[in-house]
Amino acid sequence: MQLADAVAVVTGGGSGIGAALAAELAARDAEAVVVADLDAENAARIAASVAGASTRTSVWSHVVDVSDADAVAALVAQVVDRHGRVDLYCSNAGIGTGAGAGAPDDVWDRTWAVNVMSHVHAVRALLPMWLERGAGHLLVTASAAGLLTNLGDAPYSVTKHAAVAFAEWVSITHGDAGVEVSCLCPQGVRTPLLFGAAAGSRPGVDVDGALAAEVVKAQRILEPDHVAAFAADALEAGEFLVLPHEEVADYERARAGDRERWLRAMRRLQARLGDG
Ligand SMILES: NC(=O)c1ccc[n+]([C@@H]2O[C@H](COP(=O)([O-])OP(=O)(O)OC[C@H]3O[C@@H](n4cnc5c(N)ncnc54)[C@H](O)[C@@H]3O)[C@@H](O)[C@H]2O)c1
Repeated sequence: MQLADAVAVVTGGGSGIGAALAAELAARDAEAVVVADLDAENAARIAASVAGASTRTSVWSHVVDVSDADAVAALVAQVVDRHGRVDLYCSNAGIGTGAGAGAPDDVWDRTWAVNVMSHVHAVRALLPMWLERGAGHLLVTASAAGLLTNLGDAPYSVTKHAAVAFAEWVSITHGDAGVEVSCLCPQGVRTPLLFGAAAGSRPGVDVDGALAAEVVKAQRILEPDHVAAFAADALEAGEFLVLPHEEVADYERARAGDRERWLRAMRRLQARLGDG
């Protein structure tokens, strides 16, 4: 797709990768960028900063809980009302838990709602318009955890695998009708999700927050700006799988090629970092 003149929505746009995506889309002369987030203050702050750096992009903020189907539909309706269409929807908001299988059901449910159903709600709201126009681009921010696993975070690993599966399904089912899908799967990125006060210490959740954060921090950490620029290039090139950490492609091949060996290696890594 062409990002210049695109009307784009970025969920989770108030922080981290989403904020960097919003800035990158404006830098590439998008017609409009909507910074959508649960956190009204951060969304407004990022929208103001992106607007300040851009002469030709209309930037505004919108408060949304992406786990709420009606709220997502209202967001899409408002963008269409103001700009006539949505060309690009970056379904980027996501949460981690730092929890194992013993996480309470409400933690599993919330993680599923934010990390998976958000994408489903978006596609339901966008698909009629995109099929009618024969065009539209969905960017799902999943994670390398959706291709591999995230030690110490069971709900995150499971929901990110589901996010990748859904992105693939939409691409397969609607790709020939003009609906493009990209799936962003980074490893560690320097954002509050990984480095903020809440990372690695989530009260009320059972065990391994510290392990989950330490595992990711032990990998190569990329800056959000780099990830956003990499993703924007991939969007313009029409690529499905977006891997700013190129080594993830090798890890995925190793996992698919010999699952037993990969599981043994991951157990060793867990033991090493868990002791650490
Ligand atoms: N940081 C990493 O290392 C990393 C690695 C791989 C994937 N990711 C994924 O990238 C995405 C962005 O994460 P980030 O690292 O920028 O984190 P972040 O915490 O900096 O930003 C996430 C944003 O999403 C918002 N958000 C959370 N729940 C929401 C909801 N229900 N509705 C609307 N907004 C909501 C938050 O308010 C926040 O502004 C997530 O999907 C995350 O899983 C991050």
